[in-house]
Amino acid sequence: MIIAPSILTADLGNLGESCKSAIDAGLDRLHLDVMDGSFVPNLTFGPPFISMLRDVLGNDVLFDVHLMISNAENTFQQYIDAGCNHISVHFEAVNHLHRCITAIQESGATAGLALNPSTPIENALEVLPILDSVVVMSVNPGFGGQSFISSVENKIRRLRKAIDDQVSNGGKVVEIQIDGGVKSHNIRSLRDWGVDNCVVGSGLFNNTGTVEQNLAELRKALK
Ligand code: DX5
Ligand code: ZN
Repeated sequence: MIIAPSILTADLGNLGESCKSAIDAGLDRLHLDVMDGSFVPNLTFGPPFISMLRDVLGNDVLFDVHLMISNAENTFQQYIDAGCNHISVHFEAVNHLHRCITAIQESGATAGLALNPSTPIENALEVLPILDSVVVMSVNPGFGGQSFISSVENKIRRLRKAIDDQVSNGGKVVEIQIDGGVKSHNIRSLRDWGVDNCVVGSGLFNNTGTVEQNLAELRKALK
């Protein structure tokens, strides 16, 4: 199970240290939640901030950026230029999805499609053959620390079957990433449902323990 730490609930006043603690704890990536205050009711950070983070952390850390913005198809290149390796765009915010995905990949990044809790996975099926990942939102996007929406189980299982069918017919392997409300009490079930990659924010960055301690809890739950 890949764990992608979301820095949204990290100590923003000491972000370099928070990120370093996640990398030092053995994580190989950061999940960067970009929010524009329009597509979601929250505003976070953009390309300049990400460039700074890339300078601080060096080139070995994978930057998985989650674009919760209204104009992703016109601005994704700025995030690649800022050092992002994987770009996830929202189905609900992109007009020309096939064109956007192929353009991201032609720019040298991998491409993910994020689906809000109410968006059926069937909306991903036409582009599933070219996608690198599908992000199943298990919270309504915009904030960290929210409760897991357990009704996504059926959605994950359907998506798992669709990808397994695609692969068994010689098609592309597509990663299932789940995003929101993942904790040590539910992460094992998520693996059983067929999830490959879990975004974890407040389950790693919180006041109850260090990132290292929280990561150990998550890994213990997966044993
Ligand atoms: C929510 C973001 C998530 C969030 C996860 O819009 O996309 O990545 O930061 O945080 P937790 O794990 O606390 O739900
Ligand atoms: Zn996210």
